[in-house]
Amino acid sequence: MFDKIEMAPADPILGLSEAFKADPNPEKINLGVGVYKDANGATPILACVKAAEERLAKEETTKGYLPIDGDGRYGAHVQKLLFGEGSEIILSGRAATSHTPGGTGALRVAGDFIKANLPGAKLWVSDPTWANHAAVFGAAGVEVKKYAYYDAASSGLNFEGMIESLKTIDAGDVVLLHGCCHNPTGVDPTLQQWTQIAAVVAEQGGIPLVDFAYQGFAEGVLEDSVGLHEVANANKELIVCSSFSKNFGLYNERVGALTIVAKDADEAKKVQSQVKVTIRRNYSNPPCHGGAIVRTVLDDEGLSKQWLDELAAMRDRINGMRTSLTRELDSRGVKLNPAGNGFIAGQRGMFSFSGLTKEQVGVLKAEHSIYIVGSGRINVAGITENNIARLCDAIAAVTQAAV
Ligand code: LMR
Repeated sequence: MFDKIEMAPADPILGLSEAFKADPNPEKINLGVGVYKDANGATPILACVKAAEERLAKEETTKGYLPIDGDGRYGAHVQKLLFGEGSEIILSGRAATSHTPGGTGALRVAGDFIKANLPGAKLWVSDPTWANHAAVFGAAGVEVKKYAYYDAASSGLNFEGMIESLKTIDAGDVVLLHGCCHNPTGVDPTLQQWTQIAAVVAEQGGIPLVDFAYQGFAEGVLEDSVGLHEVANANKELIVCSSFSKNFGLYNERVGALTIVAKDADEAKKVQSQVKVTIRRNYSNPPCHGGAIVRTVLDDEGLSKQWLDELAAMRDRINGMRTSLTRELDSRGVKLNPAGNGFIAGQRGMFSFSGLTKEQVGVLKAEHSIYIVGSGRINVAGITENNIARLCDAIAAVTQAAV
């Protein structure tokens, strides 16, 4: 029976990591998958995480199952990070959080929840968006549509186009917004723009779904949640899919959360009962270890402070690399946008949507062993003092060849 099965295409992001691994070139550079690297090109375990793991190794007494939606203490920390301690949403019990296997797990549970409980709802994603969004929601049977987002001419936000598209959504449709550090473009709305976006979604009767995978990578944990707060102020009902892969560096522990905010506590309980049905059918209950690390760090004032310092160090290194990338491209006469490379510094989070074409990305891979996502998305966190010259020489070569 299996002889009829065709080879599936490689994943546009994780497939690059596989190709990178197989590349024998000692000078190869991986700027594909969104994983933080330090100045030595390593993805270290945060010291606060190591400390929490030591504590857990001593204090953990069981490996018994977690509840279907995970440990409630973990969920409480998630809500504080999202909405701020003492927020009305938390105090009124309008939010219900489930610990999911990563942010992707949260998206899939949200997709299944939407399909089962909001019949006919379409999901609107930005153009472009994370390469896996359409696949995750499509697999859940949700119809996926696109709203305008990126303006290639300015390498910035097409805000008017975005608002125009959002005005065409039907009541009951779900609008996926990137909470901060838009993936893949790195282009975020301003606070004033967030207020308008939130209002338009509310006027249309839409349900916002905020994908919040990079909290703390733009300006800070609190600063990066202002867009989400605008959305929550204007919309009584919303869905948040968040992740600790990046800001805790817990990629392989798969620690994420699905938080649904309802009109009141009673509705939140009913919604959560349906989310639990979905989870039980998917993976039964979440893995414990990563969530226990996050809870242990956030339960402890000293470890929480250490976490914020370590997160700030990651953020600062990425921003430093943005400046270096701009300088090194400028010095080689490369202009990734006709107006110059200044846009790179304005993009936020791990990624820079470089403007490199699919063909140029292909040449970078084939001839220079430099791995970038086909859309031209560069993981700035993968750039180091050691590889930046080689990277910019190669970009100069492929962009000059294309002219
Ligand atoms: C990315 O966009 O590179 C990350 O979110 C990792 C992934 O799963 O694609």
